[in-house]
Amino acid sequence: MSKTLFWLLVGSSLAVALYAVLGYAFLTPGRTVHPAMMAAYAAHPWRILIHVAASLVALAVGPFQFIPSLRRRRTLHRTLGMIYFSMVFIGGISGLFTATIAQGGIISQTGFIVLALLWMYTAGRALRAVKLDDYVAHSEWAMRSFALTFAAVTIRVQLGIGFASGYAFEDFYWMLSWTCWIPNLIVIEWAIRKNRFKMHN
Ligand code: HEM
Repeated sequence: MSKTLFWLLVGSSLAVALYAVLGYAFLTPGRTVHPAMMAAYAAHPWRILIHVAASLVALAVGPFQFIPSLRRRRTLHRTLGMIYFSMVFIGGISGLFTATIAQGGIISQTGFIVLALLWMYTAGRALRAVKLDDYVAHSEWAMRSFALTFAAVTIRVQLGIGFASGYAFEDFYWMLSWTCWIPNLIVIEWAIRKNRFKMHN
């Protein structure tokens, strides 16, 4: 991956994490997106607040785990890794609860549920691989896990595109819980396979 692209990923991850801090610490939850979301979160504040607080830490910490010079500092990599995995599990479990009150109906809610399950599964596989000293598998599962964490960025880009194109929230939001992560997984799977091919040739 080119350095520019990598820093773009880091910058966009930090920008969305900052959005989450500002939007949820200082404004009424859901206000930045849609009044229906605001009403749902007002009725169930804890699940969204726990979800946002934990997930934004995973999003902010995750990219730094892929910087080789930081990764070589074992204690730092391990500490940030444990913070990342803990936040993925807290963010994932609370994400499952939040999915039941998500906008966009059953298609949208199912998409968030599948995403939450895959998010925790991929993180769990990355954690297991490191316990087994399988560092290649660890790095591949960590890449898949972060591709799913990055759905938080993709969904906001897609939300922005939807609004900028003049569509009503109700017309496109229902599909975003799928389109925000499937392309990420396809791209990362392609990158993983390309890397494996390079290592064996
Ligand atoms: C990758 C697994 C994730 C799942 C399954 C998930 C699930 C959800 C669900 C179901 C909602 C409610 C949507 C609605 O009310 O219609 C939501 C909202 C939200 N999530 Fe996540 N999420 C994930 C990752 C993240 C990450 C990494 C962040 C980090 C910033 C994040 C931040 C937020 C925020 C701020 C909201 C409130 C809506 C908004 O203001 O844009 N989520 N999430």
